[in-house]
Formats: sequence, C-alpha cells, structure tokens
Amino acid sequence: MDPVKVGVLGLGTVGGGTVNLLERNRDEITRRAGRPIDIVHAAARHPDRPRTCSTDGIRLTYDAFEVVDDPDIEIVVELIGGDELARELTLRAIDNGKHVVTANKAMIALHGNEIFAKAREKGVSVGFEAAVAGGIPIIKAVREGLVGNRIEWLAGIINGTGNFILTEMLYAGRAFGDVLAEAQRLGYAEADPTFDVEGIDAAHKLTILASIAFGIPLQFDKVYTEGIGQISIEDVTYAQELGFRIKHLGIARREADGIGLRVHPTLLPERQLLANVDGVMNAVMVNADPVGPTLYYGAGAGAEPTASAVVADLVDVVREFTLEPENRVPYLAFHSHFLSDEPI
Ligand code: HSE
Repeated sequence: MDPVKVGVLGLGTVGGGTVNLLERNRDEITRRAGRPIDIVHAAARHPDRPRTCSTDGIRLTYDAFEVVDDPDIEIVVELIGGDELARELTLRAIDNGKHVVTANKAMIALHGNEIFAKAREKGVSVGFEAAVAGGIPIIKAVREGLVGNRIEWLAGIINGTGNFILTEMLYAGRAFGDVLAEAQRLGYAEADPTFDVEGIDAAHKLTILASIAFGIPLQFDKVYTEGIGQISIEDVTYAQELGFRIKHLGIARREADGIGLRVHPTLLPERQLLANVDGVMNAVMVNADPVGPTLYYGAGAGAEPTASAVVADLVDVVREFTLEPENRVPYLAFHSHFLSDEPI
C-alpha cells in the first residue's frame, strides 16, 4: 500500500509531537488508517532551533508555500498558528485539492466560515479536532456522539495554561508570572501568552465548539471575553475558604434570543466536577436532551495530547478520502473489520 504523503507547516511543539507520534505508533496507525502515513515535506520558520523530533526522510524548507504547492502532498497539516498567513496557506492548499488538518483555533474561529465554504467547493476535508481542548476528542463527541441530541448548554475549562496558573496559585502559592513562564517552557502557552491570560484563546475555542454544538456560523466577535489577568493569590485562597474554586470557563447556552457565548472566571462550588479539574487538564461538560450531562476530560495542551488529535484527523482523512473504493471501510463495519489475532 502506497504511503499517504503529508506536508507539515510548522515543526514546533505540536509539529514535533506529530512527527514523533506517527513514528512511535506507526504500525497501529497504519493498520487503522489502511495506508502508512509519511511526513515527507515540512516547513520550519527557525532554521537553527533545536528540534524535538527527527527530520530524517523529511524535506525541510523555510517556505511554507513550497509545501502547499508540492504536487506529491495529499494532506497538509497546518501547525504554524496565527491567523492571516495560516489562512492564506490553508486556502491555497485547499485550492490545490489537498485535505487540511489543523490545530489552529484562531484561524478556524476567525476564518473558518470562508475555509469550510472553499473546502466544500473543492470536495476536500478540513479536520480541526486539535484546535479545541488538546487531546480530548470533543469535536467528534459533540458532532458524532451527540448527533441525536438537542444541546442545551456546554461549559468547559478550555485553556490549559490558564487552568495551570490558577491551580498553581491556589495549591502552591506561586506567583502568576512565574507559573506563566513555566507554562511557556512546557509548550502549553500560545506564542503570544496574552491570548491565554486574556481569555482570547478560550474564546476562539468556544466559538468553534458552539458552532458545532448549535449549528451556528463561527462568530468570534459575539463572545463576551474576560481573562484571568486580574486574579490574585488572595482571590483564589479566599474563594477556597468559602468552599469555591475560581475556574476560567467558556460557556455557550441557549437563551431566549439566541446562543449566549461567554468566557470569564467563575466561582464554582468545590464539589462540582469542573471545580476539580486541575493543572493543564481541560474538561467540557455538555448538557443535552435526551442524554443529560456528559463530561469530557483530558490534557488540554502540550505536544503529545495535541498530536494525538492531529493524528486522529489524519487517520480520518486517509480512511474517508484516500483509500481505493474497495478498501474503504463502511463506518458501521469498522469494529469487526480490524479484529484479528494480532492486537493493535
Ligand atoms: N495555549 C493553549 C492552552 C494551547 O493553554 O490551552 C492549547 O490549545
């Protein structure tokens, strides 16, 4: 079976994690996808920066347009972040007939309507599971698992850096800036960490989640956005003494005149499940009819959790679009198709 040739834009935290994951679990991923997935071309902005992954077998360039214009590439993985250049590259990749997988929440929240319209026109797929809540398969859960439900509201801790800061302030008494610097070192924070601190990153993710959950266009400018920059150690400590935790939540809820979208610090009674989500973990609670409340929990940032979501989208695209018709696996037959004596 010919490998699927993939081009990657950005070999930073998530790019490196994706290369490593495809290598580490190569056999399992190949069996599940139906074809090996090879990263053969990658664009990296910083030539001299030490890498977290091997680049053996990968053609490296500093010109991302070279990757999206490479006729051998079937899928482009966009991991450069930011919105304008990423949008331009993504639209060009789609125009060239390539599928796109992205972890870029800013790009999807701000330009997703345009990008999805173009993808529909060209008959290609755009996967963005990695854009929301890191390794939690929340897009798939809401879009597929809850497809028969009417969603009433969802509320989540969807910025790992912010939650890490609030947790360390409360339990270790550490200063805000000190924890933020650690989040940057660990690869959790955005390139511009004010996006984490001011709630913009959470607002991007809420925009995307709400669009899927309620079937509304992406409307980032409608999100009421407040960050955690004003919260002090005294605030988190007093809240704890009163039996509460301060958590930064993204909330989308049906209201009389539409869907209300807001991100802000929230006092949660300490016995609530979301009050006990600590560190870089994210969690999203979805309340839907008829299923009732469901909760999704996992690491919300970092190389490996985010790479897990990127690879999930890559495998979906390979299964749905690149296999010869006789090798495609009907979705409902999927379980039995891969049962064999050799475990994966
Ligand atoms: N800066 C983001 C966070 C990265 O901390 O959640 C994952 O989207």
